[in-house]
Amino acid sequence: IVTDPALMVVPFDDHMVHRGHGVFDTAAIVEGKIYDLEAHLDRFIRSARTSRLTLPCPREEMRELIVATTAASGKRDGSIRYWISGGPGSLGLAPATGAEPGFFVMIFAGLAYPDTWFSQGLRVMTTTYPIKPALYAVTKSTNYLPNVLMQLEAQEAGLDNGVFVDADGNVGESSNMNVAFVTPGGVLKHPRFDHILSGCTSLRLLELARGLVGSRLSGVEVCDIPVSEARGAREMLLIGSSVKVAPIVEWDRAPIGDGKPGPVAHALRELLEQDMRSATDRLIDVPY
Ligand SMILES: Cc1ncc(COP(=O)(O)O)c(C=O)c1O
Repeated sequence: IVTDPALMVVPFDDHMVHRGHGVFDTAAIVEGKIYDLEAHLDRFIRSARTSRLTLPCPREEMRELIVATTAASGKRDGSIRYWISGGPGSLGLAPATGAEPGFFVMIFAGLAYPDTWFSQGLRVMTTTYPIKPALYAVTKSTNYLPNVLMQLEAQEAGLDNGVFVDADGNVGESSNMNVAFVTPGGVLKHPRFDHILSGCTSLRLLELARGLVGSRLSGVEVCDIPVSEARGAREMLLIGSSVKVAPIVEWDRAPIGDGKPGPVAHALRELLEQDMRSATDRLIDVPY
């Protein structure tokens, strides 16, 4: 473990660097505890398998290394990002025979978003970049080129982020976050996870949202969401480990609902923040 970032090095011939043959995941540190690490490890290991990456060590050992690195960092709030790489030794398309996979863990402050995202909401656009084919979208590999291009395109248009739409005209996801909608009838609808990343935050929120059925919501559904239907939503939400829940108030220059942050976004954000602090079965103590 090194505490000087300059000393965290990756061999340049590691297959992750020059061929994008690596997977990663990011979990949150909240008040000195790691939130929902098991869900993130499930996805991480699934992504490694799909990418034909050899696990560097058993899951338990990866968890221990993540916890130990967090403890060494002293950080009580922030993010943990970790990678499995193809390993060094080959500049070709296949990793070197017997290459030792890399396992890297980094603790950092976490991505920061403007306060206005939460107080006033975000403005997004449908990206002109094609959505990843399902196999690659469900795999959290280090190839984020479409996601990066989408973010840059939105930024250049003076907007906050983009949204991928699939070939059938259904809503996909955003650059590093999922999206969901509240229909005019009060149903929370989330796109199916078969062609987008299984957001750990979305999966947890869908459970928590059931607690709002009967008050702020009339139902919760995971289904295909045609763009034409989505545009008529009462609320549109951006969901992810770093942003938690943020209201989207404008999409392709047209308002969502009344164009103001809605009550479900607010209620879900509160539920999630509470869960991140109090769901003892999802929190790992860090031995600082
Ligand atoms: C493409 C993409 N979609 C969705 C998400 C949201 O996932 P999570 O809630 O696990 O942060 C992420 C973040 O990892 C992402 O990169």
